[in-house]
Amino acid sequence: TTEIEWWEYDGAGEMADAVAGDIQFIIESAIDARGAAVIALAGGKTPLPIYEKLVQAKLDWKRVTIIPGDDRLVPLGDPLSNVTAIGKMFLPKGARVIPLISDKAEDYKAAGRAADARLQDLHWPLDLCLLGVGGDGHAASIFPGPDFEEALNGPRERRALGVMPDPLPPEAPVARVTLSRTAIVSARALMIALTGDAKRGVLEDAIRQGASSNYPVGRILADVELPVDIHWSA
Ligand code: 6PG
Repeated sequence: TTEIEWWEYDGAGEMADAVAGDIQFIIESAIDARGAAVIALAGGKTPLPIYEKLVQAKLDWKRVTIIPGDDRLVPLGDPLSNVTAIGKMFLPKGARVIPLISDKAEDYKAAGRAADARLQDLHWPLDLCLLGVGGDGHAASIFPGPDFEEALNGPRERRALGVMPDPLPPEAPVARVTLSRTAIVSARALMIALTGDAKRGVLEDAIRQGASSNYPVGRILADVELPVDIHWSA
């Protein structure tokens, strides 16, 4: 079983302050210990207030490498592109931002292999993996579909892979590149940030069901060795 700690906040602003503070501390500790920090940040809309706080932190940003925990197979600049949103915030600070999607047109499997190759060059494990949760119970881009088992239980050394969700999620009906479960749960710190009662209910069910859950996040969080911090606001 996984040790899980829930943190509850009075609103998205209060959550953003707290989580940005935690991330800042993790980055500073990694820089102190190893001279650099490598973190994965969640895509989607929920964490944007956290990032708006985090960019204000006084950090040695040029020692910070950021990757999106997952991305949609769309061109850079597309409104669905996670790396575009993350890059806009953190590149001006001097951070290094590594995309999971290249600017070459590639099929999703090739895109996943290319992303994995880029990540193999990074300091590993990740100092932090921050995840969100979808209303359908996905996290990162680990979705039901033909690549589900590979994303959850593929080769240990695989850091990223391409996935084709089935069914395609309506908010972004495209293929994805995602961190593998192994990459996620081997991070030195694992956090989830979410808002609203509906997602909270899904996450609680998923955790209760664990390894037998139909929700990807339940499968991801089953039997994780490090404690997981869950940050929630209404
Ligand atoms: C993640 C993903 C992604 C996202 C959800 C929720 O890291 O888990 O980037 O799965 O968090 O799709 O997105 P919203 O925050 O926009 O609801």
